[in-house]
Amino acid sequence: MNIPFFNITSLSLLLLLLSSSLLVLHLGRNNINNQMPHLLSSPSNLKVAILGAAGGIGQSLSLLLKTQLHYLIQANSPTNIHLSLYDINKEVIDGLYADLSHIDTPISLSAHAANDGKGGIHAALVDSDIIVIPAGMPRKPGMTRDDLFNINAKIISQLTDSIAESCDLSKVFILLISNPVNSLVPVVCNRLISHHKIDKGIEKRLLGITNLDLVRASTFLNELSPSNNGRMPYVPVIGGHSGDTIVPVFSSQSQLISTMDEPQLKHLISRVQYGGDEIVKAKNGKGSATLSMAHAACKIVTNFTNLLLGNVNSFESINYIPLLDHQNQPICKGSNELMSMIDNLQFFAIPATVTSSGVNEINYDILNHLNSYEKNELIPICLMKLKKNINSGLEFNVEEV
Ligand SMILES: NC(=O)c1ccc[n+]([C@@H]2O[C@H](COP(=O)([O-])OP(=O)(O)OC[C@H]3O[C@@H](n4cnc5c(N)ncnc54)[C@H](O)[C@@H]3O)[C@@H](O)[C@H]2O)c1
Repeated sequence: MNIPFFNITSLSLLLLLLSSSLLVLHLGRNNINNQMPHLLSSPSNLKVAILGAAGGIGQSLSLLLKTQLHYLIQANSPTNIHLSLYDINKEVIDGLYADLSHIDTPISLSAHAANDGKGGIHAALVDSDIIVIPAGMPRKPGMTRDDLFNINAKIISQLTDSIAESCDLSKVFILLISNPVNSLVPVVCNRLISHHKIDKGIEKRLLGITNLDLVRASTFLNELSPSNNGRMPYVPVIGGHSGDTIVPVFSSQSQLISTMDEPQLKHLISRVQYGGDEIVKAKNGKGSATLSMAHAACKIVTNFTNLLLGNVNSFESINYIPLLDHQNQPICKGSNELMSMIDNLQFFAIPATVTSSGVNEINYDILNHLNSYEKNELIPICLMKLKKNINSGLEFNVEEV
């Protein structure tokens, strides 16, 4: 797959950088509690690996992390943050590394490719604390995320095997971006548990990134009904990360939606559910969301970095997560209650509290406060479709790889 090197305009990148600088500064300076770093795989070194770093999302995300993450390191701390860039496309990964390595921030870098003679993916992964995975094919016009399943399930299964072989699964966080997220998180979970017989609580540290849905919901609502306090509205989005499985909870912003009539509100919901199609269509065969996705992922990686640096003890965010562990027991407080409200689905995007040992409590109460449209129209369709997506993931034959 040949990806034109940095095929995005300088202006877009500049805007992306500016917005993310402010975001990282804001997130980084909240809740600092002067704790020493803990739970890092290697003392004083926090390692973030990006698998698929040469792609559209991978390059933009690498730039954001290289230019922003050091703001999270406390003054006089000896901690170094290391970005490990991996892709099967050696040419682009070498170019990306050379380019990023001229940027004047104290974030160290390494570049790795399959069969690079320097340890390949093992060297990329060993001692990682956070692994972000945007590897795999993006959509072309007319494709749904599910159409990507077969090819991306194989790619992600191979990467999961490498993670199982190279990483400390009692510590590492795996953040999956590749689509279809609804089915690939079950693929990774199943592969770690049934294929590798791993029982190190990794299910609590495997999260599908759905944050772009929240970013879109906030942006689209603000376009129609700007808040007058100069801040973007927060709109939780739950369920899954594909079409009708995406459930934006606009009722949580009752004041901002109070002036909208029903067709306007339905259009807004549909725009969040199918917002990805706008980009796929506009790029006309040259990929899907990359810059906005990198921004959404940067916010999530920032949360985890803050946590592992000891700047916060926990945070709450919405991600698509497993609800059962390797023994089919609830992964944490709130899992049982949530499952009883969602037809016993084993994976769902829901607000959850995360600590350095992983997802610690599921905050399912949001489901008790949905309005009747969300509860009686959106959630039933979401559950029906999500069930199929989850089953495809769980039924994916690991031996096919
Ligand atoms: N979660 C979300 O909200 C969200 C949003 C947008 C896109 N995506 C998904 O993210 C994925 C990546 O999108 P993109 O636009 O960056 O695609 P891209 O084609 O630009 O980049 C994908 C990269 O993955 C690499 N790759 C392929 N197989 C690999 C392997 N085995 N190991 C390592 N790297 C490998 C490719 O060489 C390429 O550099 C797609 O599946 C897309 O659908 C998810």
